[in-house]
Amino acid sequence: PETSIASPVGTTLERYIMQKQSEFAFATGELSQLLRDIALAGKIINREVNRAGLAGITGAYGQQNVQGEEQQQLDVVANIRFIRALRNGGQACAVLSEEEDDIIHTGNDHGRYVVAIDPLDGSSNINVNVSIGTIFAIYRRVTPVGSKATRADFLQGGRQQVAAGYILYGSSTMLVYTTGHGVAGFTYEPSLGEFFLSHPSITIPTEGKTFSCNEGNWFDYPECVRTYLTDCKRQRFAGRYVGSLVADYHRNLFTGGIYLYPPTAKNTSGKLRLLYECYPLAFLIEQAGGQAYGEHGPVLDVTPIDFHQRSPLYIGSPAMVTAYQDCVSAAE
Ligand code: AHG
Ligand code: MN
Ligand code: MN
Ligand code: MN
Repeated sequence: PETSIASPVGTTLERYIMQKQSEFAFATGELSQLLRDIALAGKIINREVNRAGLAGITGAYGQQNVQGEEQQQLDVVANIRFIRALRNGGQACAVLSEEEDDIIHTGNDHGRYVVAIDPLDGSSNINVNVSIGTIFAIYRRVTPVGSKATRADFLQGGRQQVAAGYILYGSSTMLVYTTGHGVAGFTYEPSLGEFFLSHPSITIPTEGKTFSCNEGNWFDYPECVRTYLTDCKRQRFAGRYVGSLVADYHRNLFTGGIYLYPPTAKNTSGKLRLLYECYPLAFLIEQAGGQAYGEHGPVLDVTPIDFHQRSPLYIGSPAMVTAYQDCVSAAE
């Protein structure tokens, strides 16, 4: 009998980056190296996430972060691991993290890039074994090479991102990113310690029948959000909400759908942070043919003022985000 032909070993992230190297602006290999450093940190976090219950690193860390959130131990572990990987990789001169009040200088003052990061997204799901993620945004520095990075490097605005993506620690671990030339997805093979190209070109369905929001905030929502969601329900759309932005976003990217985090009484500008949640996912969704809106228009056009500022976020299939915007216009 024919021996079964082993599934062809696909393109690794390494090979993919080298093949695509020529597409990167400033193709000097530095952005390639930076993406490798992020992938390495993702592999390390994946291992920590998978063994958290055994290593006793679930649960609260016992401190609050600048957001006023109770840090989970894995928030702190992921933060340390990412900063260390970026420091050792040499390409990032500074990092802005959800878990740090201020910029962290890596010591690589000759690095040409800065990285804004949500080291661990979906912290409320860590202890209950539900998918969590990492979100990252990459900018070329605007301050002189050799100097210390400043706020200006991080407050360039969403459309200045040169790369963005996320890692989803889910039923399988995936790295999904863009450098402005479409969206590619890689699936991690733990036995080989490699990310393999599994989705060469990801685009979001124009339409969708899934809405993702925390309906516990229903009575805080602006009228136009309730109008839009009521219309989704009249059409018998599916409500799907994991409570990890990366997991909800990734599902909607493949099935079509809309994720909403509107203003609430507790978070009057929405809960999600502009620099390391809204901007990177908005860059990605536009590259995948979708849309991402904030308070008054595309979230990539929101002017950044503070490192940890928040923005409402309505993101996903273009037809659904447009339908939501029509509700906003009708209400004005
Ligand atoms: P993080 O864990 O990085 O602080 O982000 C949590 C965010 C996002 O992941 C998720 O969609 C949202 O918070 C859930 O908020 P609610 O619990 O208010 O629904
Ligand atoms: Mn988050
Ligand atoms: Mn986080
Ligand atoms: Mn948090």
